[in-house]
Amino acid sequence: MEKQMLRATLSKLEQLGELEVCNVEVDPKYELGAVLRYFENEKPILFNRVKGYDMPVVGGLYGNRELYYMMTDTTPEERIFKYMNAIANPQPAKLVSNGPIKENIITRNIDIQRMLPVPTSHEKDASSFITAGMLIVREPETGYTHMAVRRFQVHKGNIINALISGHSPALREQFAEFEKMNKPLECAVVLGYDATFLLASQIGSRKYGLNKYEVDSALRGEPLELVKCHSVDLEVPAYAEMVLEGVLVPNRREVEGPFGELMNYYGDVAPNPVMEVRTIMHRNNPIFQHAFPCREEHLANGLIREAELYAALKNMVDVKDVNITVGGGCRLHAIISISKKKEGDGKSAILGALGAFYDIKHVVIVDEDVDIYNVKSVEHALASRVQASQDVVIVPGALGSGLEASHVARGVTDKMGIDATKPLGEKAHFYEMAVIPGFEGKIDIQKYFPGMKK
Ligand SMILES: Cc1cc2nc3c(=O)[nH]c(=O)nc-3n(C[C@H](O)[C@H](O)[C@H](O)COP(=O)(O)O)c2cc1C
Repeated sequence: MEKQMLRATLSKLEQLGELEVCNVEVDPKYELGAVLRYFENEKPILFNRVKGYDMPVVGGLYGNRELYYMMTDTTPEERIFKYMNAIANPQPAKLVSNGPIKENIITRNIDIQRMLPVPTSHEKDASSFITAGMLIVREPETGYTHMAVRRFQVHKGNIINALISGHSPALREQFAEFEKMNKPLECAVVLGYDATFLLASQIGSRKYGLNKYEVDSALRGEPLELVKCHSVDLEVPAYAEMVLEGVLVPNRREVEGPFGELMNYYGDVAPNPVMEVRTIMHRNNPIFQHAFPCREEHLANGLIREAELYAALKNMVDVKDVNITVGGGCRLHAIISISKKKEGDGKSAILGALGAFYDIKHVVIVDEDVDIYNVKSVEHALASRVQASQDVVIVPGALGSGLEASHVARGVTDKMGIDATKPLGEKAHFYEMAVIPGFEGKIDIQKYFPGMKK
């Protein structure tokens, strides 16, 4: 029985009745993505017939918050503590001698476009893009394995090139050192993983010293099973679908983009590092993993940031929950509930949240009686608890997200926080909510209208 990675995920989704199977032929150019986008990337879909290829494609796997909780065995209430606990208490992974990923090993005539059903998503995309690939390198100082999702534009033959944003010491700085010595950097791209592996990958490198494979083992409650790669000195999950092994080539760049990405805009077009794929390992009957760019599939990134933001704010205020919203690309907007103890707590939370991550642009701080996952509830707080001249904080000209259009257009980002908490003390009575005694949230409507659906 499969216990880790994509096939275990597909079995679980099938048991839950959450896997949609498409047996109609779809074109990997535009059509497959259009079907995923119809469901806003929240529905896992297995496309069994992909035009021009024998390999099925799966997408929409990790874009639904509730499903994500189920796949990582947690609940909305517990998840932040579970994720923080795994970050604080990493557990060893396990190296095994063999695994299904080694069932097929290809070292010759590698032609990515011909061999893999890599989808093209948008009109102006420069090519097809591998969007869910987990790039693996070895961290130089600790020897840990470093992983992060990076997108790869497919060029001719065995050449793909990577977008590497952010500040990744394990990758960016290490590669810069290798380039000075004109040395290739060994790497691998893993496809066909599970929600736990993805979540662990999304911890930022700034948390230096963390071994993401060990965070994965802590999250899954059992060791992540790894095998050695065929041609590079790296370890990869034994149960993954496919691994592309090779090197980042020193001092060579290919233009990457355009690519329809975060918030549905085309991002920057720039020369980016090139990977030469030298070996492909794959399971028998492999399934190609795709993530339609770049909507809800960033959820995993947001989920980890929620835990990190919670931990950062815990030292300042009595934080209750954090929602990094899908509408803000799972990066730019945070809604945070607190139990306000002192006047000023709302503003402190704003300062903490805007300072914690460069790409958080707007934050709203609410009291704990507000449902931060319900737009109506948040808007209610904005409408009735905010006076702009007193409650809005604007920080002009900060560093923002390089993936956000208005930042790219201007080069800096204005950050804004809204304190939508009620005042404490004698003015609190203005905010008393009207209730119906004995019935708040618990009326049994079928008692009055038998058979009526709730
Ligand atoms: C589906 C998906 C696609 C992503 N694509 C990219 C990408 O193309 N380039 C990039 O630098 N980060 C991308 N990310 C974000 C990184 O994987 C993430 O920020 C990670 O935490 C970076 O790790 P690091 O800080 O250790 O380098 C993507 C994340 C997800 C979930």
